[in-house]
Amino acid sequence: MSILVTGGAGFIGSHFIQRLLPQTSDPIVCLDNFNDYYDPALKRTNAAAFDDVDQVTVVEQSFCDAPAMQQLFAQHQFRQVVHLGAYAGVRPSVANPFIYQQANVQGTLSLLEAAREHPVERFLLASSSTVYGSGAAVPFSEDAPLGIPMSPYGATKRAAELLGLTYYDLHQVPVVCLRPFSVYGPRLRPDLAMTIFTDAIENGKTLPVFGDGTIRRDFTHVADICDGLTAAMTADGVVGETINLGHSEPIEVRALIAGLEEALGKTANIDWQPEKPGDMPITFANLEKAERLLGYRPKVEFREGLREYVDWFRSYHAAI
Ligand SMILES: NC(=O)c1ccc[n+]([C@@H]2O[C@H](COP(=O)([O-])OP(=O)(O)OC[C@H]3O[C@@H](n4cnc5c(N)ncnc54)[C@H](O)[C@@H]3O)[C@@H](O)[C@H]2O)c1
Repeated sequence: MSILVTGGAGFIGSHFIQRLLPQTSDPIVCLDNFNDYYDPALKRTNAAAFDDVDQVTVVEQSFCDAPAMQQLFAQHQFRQVVHLGAYAGVRPSVANPFIYQQANVQGTLSLLEAAREHPVERFLLASSSTVYGSGAAVPFSEDAPLGIPMSPYGATKRAAELLGLTYYDLHQVPVVCLRPFSVYGPRLRPDLAMTIFTDAIENGKTLPVFGDGTIRRDFTHVADICDGLTAAMTADGVVGETINLGHSEPIEVRALIAGLEEALGKTANIDWQPEKPGDMPITFANLEKAERLLGYRPKVEFREGLREYVDWFRSYHAAI
């Protein structure tokens, strides 16, 4: 019996596989199609972290291919599925919604169908804080009205959650939906604001900031997200539930920039731009449910996490 981690070469997926390794002797299948949403070389570097580990098999394939997923599940008899693979950027989904629909909705469906045919003990489905939209009460609570997602990305994540919960009700696929909030840490995706800000400050480039810098994000360290995911693999009473994984301490964009300036020892050259569509003014996780069901408590303090991230950024870019 093995464990399937989709998107295992991505930012969160690669950390998660490394976290899993000392905790299980089960074989782990890392499924990733290494697409070019961002530089696949970074994904190759991420996956190199378990290159020499016999316990991990990297399968380079798309989970949108439903017959291939049926075959993969038949071959490996997965005990658990941790579905982290997705198209995950907010703004690009406004310009190019079709690939989001394909990867995040159709792709999730082909995995759920495979899990229906080849039963698993648990199916973790990574959703996102972007399912909370205009109209959601702050801080965001899982079982309160969510509002309307402000981007096609958020809408596809909500659709994936609903498919997961339907497959639980209808076919008893033991789905748990997790909603991570603005994850950061080493190996951070290059398309995210924190990377763009760091690159601009480090390299003396002009830094475009959209809006007035008061947008707040509930930045959550990837190690805390891995804690929440591993807890959700075994916790009782979580199947059929949807659970926030955040930090519950929203940080203003201008505070993020100040934190990066401090960590890098350099000053930002900011070019203030009008707000862009698709951005929520605040993300803020209510963690009561995560603590109650998973014993989840984020541990990594923001300044400490930022320093660690900046160290990784410098060493990664020095090496390429
Ligand atoms: N990073 C965040 O701040 C954040 C916040 C909320 C939710 N999430 C969710 O967490 C998950 C992981 O996000 P991430 O930041 O690590 O993103 P990522 O882009 O680094 O990782 C996703 C991986 O999925 C792979 N993938 C995409 N489509 C695929 C397909 N059809 N078949 C096989 N592999 C495919 C990509 O190649 C990539 O390696 C996603 O589901 C994302 O929506 C992330």
